[in-house]
Parts: sequence; structure tokens; C-alpha cells
Amino acid sequence: MMPGKDVVVIGGGAAGMMCAIEAGKRGRSVLIIDHSPKLAEKIRISGGGRCNFTNLHARPENYLSENPHFCRSALARYTPRDFIALVERQGIGYHEKKLGQLFCDGSSQQIIEMLKRECDAVGVQWWQPCQVRRVTQGGDFRLSTDRGEVRADSLVIASGGLSIPQIGASPFGYRIAEQFGIAVTPLRPALVPLTFAPEDLAHYAGIPGISIDAVVSAGGMQFRENLLITHRGLSGPAILQASSYWRPGEMIHIDLLPDEDAEALLLEHRWSQMQLANLLGRYLPKRFAQAWSAAVLPSRPMQQYSEQELRMLAARLHGWQLRPSGTVGYKKAEVTLGGIDTRELSSKTMEARKVPGLYFIGEVVDVTGQLGGYNFQWAWASGYAAGQYV
Ligand code: FDA
Repeated sequence: MMPGKDVVVIGGGAAGMMCAIEAGKRGRSVLIIDHSPKLAEKIRISGGGRCNFTNLHARPENYLSENPHFCRSALARYTPRDFIALVERQGIGYHEKKLGQLFCDGSSQQIIEMLKRECDAVGVQWWQPCQVRRVTQGGDFRLSTDRGEVRADSLVIASGGLSIPQIGASPFGYRIAEQFGIAVTPLRPALVPLTFAPEDLAHYAGIPGISIDAVVSAGGMQFRENLLITHRGLSGPAILQASSYWRPGEMIHIDLLPDEDAEALLLEHRWSQMQLANLLGRYLPKRFAQAWSAAVLPSRPMQQYSEQELRMLAARLHGWQLRPSGTVGYKKAEVTLGGIDTRELSSKTMEARKVPGLYFIGEVVDVTGQLGGYNFQWAWASGYAAGQYV
């Protein structure tokens, strides 16, 4: 006879483990199936190896979705404080880096081990690595895998998004949605570096590694943090944040001197013999100041610019406009924007409205957090929500 479980979770990452723990606490028998040979690789590489596991200020406004209200209920029922309590109970040291972002003092491995211990404590079983070949439904769910077959009353899809295929990301969740006639919103890489158009690449490709404190605007949102010049384009937290709101073909706007009045500053030096690039080099990294001024107007002594040119330069300093040629794609994106259409799911339980017993949680759902621990908070909260009902 085919072995059976109350709950099978496909994907043993952040959301899947949280759901399994909560279901296990309710006495449900739970099996996690994951195709990766290693446990929770995304958690391991997150936050530069220290896992930015939540954000003290997580609110629905920090998430993108076609239905911005969908995440509200789950986020309210499992808050950053709830996850912090779990981390503290397990004696894991942590600190706030900036802007409410909480990181492990040690390594992200501590979060993985903590979740695994919690799973073990409630008897969660694992099939890993294990490929799911087929899912069918007839009253319950029947899964055919390379470890054999298994039945489940509830099936939870926690297989994540498309980012970083090198460590196991797959379109599994979207395929299951398609199989069951569940809509998926358009997908694209987010929290992702942007690439320069060829004309900009010519000016800036020679100065990778330069970091600037700037305000980056895209799609009606603006973010003040560092931007980083790379070999191919722009990265750094300000750009990653803006990338989620940027759409191909659109411009991004960058205020390079958010704390200065560029016009007053340039006009004040109007009669100086100093080169423009040298003046800008007092406020911006020198090599960037040179490359930027050469791209806008050849650098000359300040006294050789007309007042009109200086006003134009000032406007450009506060509104450097670029039209990126694209993004570097899922290989480097932190998350996938879009996913299971939230209109298909109950915001209370994460269950599919038209397929009782089928649940979607975590990144596979069309809920995408900003940079700074918000994506893990969604994984914990949506996993917790489903865990109460599976
Ligand atoms: P997650 O990707 O964690 O887990 C999915 C699981 O499903 C994986 O174990 C995978 O192997 C498995 N799977 C996939 N396909 C399968 C299949 N066909 N069959 C079986 N199993 C399958 N967020 C944040 O809040 N703070 C941070 O510091 C970072 N840092 C960060 C760095 C980098 C480099 C990346 C790429 C991402 C981040 N993130 C982040 C985002 C965060 O990692 C992400 O949003 C969550 O891990 C999503 O959790 P899920 O459980 O939904 O998917």
C-alpha cells in the first residue's frame, strides 16, 4: 500500500520548514521533499553568509504584489518579534546592521540548524535529495518520486522562485499551478543588478568597485543607499531596491549629491581655475567624478563654463538619467517578482481556492519583499499561516 502523510511539503527552504514545524506542532505527520542535495542553500548564502533573517519594520508596504493587501493577514499573525523570539530561545546571537535589518552574529548556518532542530523536534521526515516526477489528485494527492510514491491529504508547494538556478531554483511551483489551472502573474528577476546601455558602458566600465551614497528613483519609488559601479552596470542596495520597481525600457534617475545644493556649489566656484572633475572629486569618488564629467561635458577649468552650462551640470548631478539595457537576470537576482496569483489563494490559509488541500507559500507566491530581511519574513509568515491549516 502507498505510504501516506497528513502533509507533504515540496521545498525544504525557509517557508517549507516553517510550515512543517507548525503543522508538526499540531500533531500532523509531515514529509518534506527537496530535490537539492544540500539543505536550505538560499538561507546559507543569504545576507552575505549571515542571513538577514527579518526586518524590525516589516509592513505590507514593503512588499510588491498585484494585490498589495494579500500579505497583510499573514504578516500580522507572524511578526518579526515572533521569529526573533525563536532565534533568542535557541541562543543565536544577532544584531541590527541598519534600517531594522537583523543579521546573525555568526553564520546563516545557525538559522538552518535551528529550523532543522525544530523540524526534528516535531518528527518531520525528509526525502532529500528527491525528485518529484508526477502529482495527481483524486480525493487526496498522490506523488510519484524517485524514492517511491506517497499520498498526502495536504500538499504544500514551497519550492521558491527562479533566482539562482545554480543552487536548485526551479519552475516547479509554477508548473504545478499550471497543472491545476491556477493563474501565475508575469515573472521577472528582482533585487537584481542593472546593465549599462552600450554608450554608458563605454564611460563607466573602467571603474568597477566604486560605491556612491545616492538616491535612486525608478517606477515612482526612491531609495537612498549605496550604489555600486560594476563591470557591466550598476548594483549595490540602492540599485537592487530600485530594480524591483524598474521596467525594461524605462529610465532610472540618480541624485548623486543628495545632501548638497549642486547649483550653489558650482556657481560658487564659477571663477575658479579648478577643473570641474577635481571640484566634483571633493564630493564624489575621484575616478567616478572624472568619468561622469567626461560623459556630460569635457572637464575644463570652472571659469570656462557658462552659467547656463553650470546650471545644466547641477541639474544632471541631482538627476543623472540612465536607461539600463536590462538586468543581469536570474543568475544574480535575489528574488523572483510575480508568482502564484494571490486571487487564487486564501490570505488566511494560503490554500488554493479551486483546489482544496493545495497550498502555496513563500517566494513562489506573487508577494515580493524589498531588500532587507523582508523576503524571509514573508517566508516565515506565509509558512506559519499555512502550517495552522494543513
Ligand atoms: P527557498 O528558495 O528558500 O526554498 C525553496 C526550496 O525548494 C529549495 O530548498 C529548493 O531546493 C527546493 N526546490 C526547488 N525546486 C524543487 C523541485 N522541483 N523539487 C523539490 N524541491 C525543489 N532574503 C532575506 O529576507 N534576507 C536576506 O539576507 C536574503 N539574502 C539573499 C541572498 C541571495 C544571494 C539570494 C538569492 C536571496 C536572498 N534572499 C534574502 C531571498 C530569500 O532567500 C528568499 O526569498 C527565500 O529563501 C524564499 O524562501 P522559500 O522557502 O520560498 O524558497
